[in-house]
Amino acid sequence: MTNALHIQGLEARYGDLHILKGVDLQVPAGEVHALMGPNGSGMSTLCHVLMGKPGYTAEGSALVGDTEMLGLSVDERARAGLFEGFQYPVEVGGVTLRDLLAEIDGAIGGGAALEARIESAAESMDMARFMDRPVNEGLSGGEKKRSEMLQLLALDPKVAVLDEIDSGLDIDAVRDVATAVEALRSPDRGLLVITHYSRILRYMTVDRVHVMMAGRIVRSGGAELAEALESKGYEGMRKEFGLDESATAAESGGDDFIAGL
Ligand SMILES: Nc1ncnc2c1ncn2[C@@H]1O[C@H](COP(=O)(O)OP(=O)(O)OP(=O)(O)O)[C@@H](O)[C@H]1O
Ligand SMILES: [Mg+2]
Repeated sequence: MTNALHIQGLEARYGDLHILKGVDLQVPAGEVHALMGPNGSGMSTLCHVLMGKPGYTAEGSALVGDTEMLGLSVDERARAGLFEGFQYPVEVGGVTLRDLLAEIDGAIGGGAALEARIESAAESMDMARFMDRPVNEGLSGGEKKRSEMLQLLALDPKVAVLDEIDSGLDIDAVRDVATAVEALRSPDRGLLVITHYSRILRYMTVDRVHVMMAGRIVRSGGAELAEALESKGYEGMRKEFGLDESATAAESGGDDFIAGL
């Protein structure tokens, strides 16, 4: 089984803040994994550090296929096959979604086949009317998330980390996004879906669920782990793990509670 994403001992700091404290995570090609955790655990930081957002320092290893991400530019990481779907997608004034997708097409040499795929996906995702508007400008939360999915489809990455793909979505939109994620499942691709709620996981099949707390993966299991989280809450999990109530990734020492696991 080949890993699409293989993270080992990933540490990340932002200035003095020690946020990721040794993340180990593998997503085999062909699988969809969920990453869950309470606010401030370090999930978005993990996405940013994988993608190479400036300002963070990282140590350890993060492989996309055989390519080490750490040390590469954002551009190189994208070309190596990594995609980050943002928790808060940015608005890009003056650039239409059609122009952005055409640029992507040009950069990766997708040609007519990609153009056709984009047009048909835009139709099926009800995004056609946004194609000639500036990227994300004035879009609702749900529309922005769909726009991200369309860009993902165009880039056809090896690994996609989708940060809070379901936040701010209404019930139908959650189902639509879950269906879109399922459609992106491919033998050559690994998907990591970050969410706070097990709701979206009811509409898609996840191969594995990982729980992040205070900058580390503290538990991994099957889909039933998401249901357990829903019933116990993160609070219940915290107690089980003996983690300080107020601890976030950046605040917690983290080492004591993890030792007991
Ligand atoms: N650029 C930054 N500047 C200051 N603090 C940061 C920065 N990035 C992350 N942090 C801190 O690191 C911790 C983890 O943040 P992160 O955004 O990764 O959490 P998260 O797990 O995505 O939470 P949420 O579910 O609320 O989005 C938080 O305490 C946050 O304030
Ligand atoms: Mg986040």
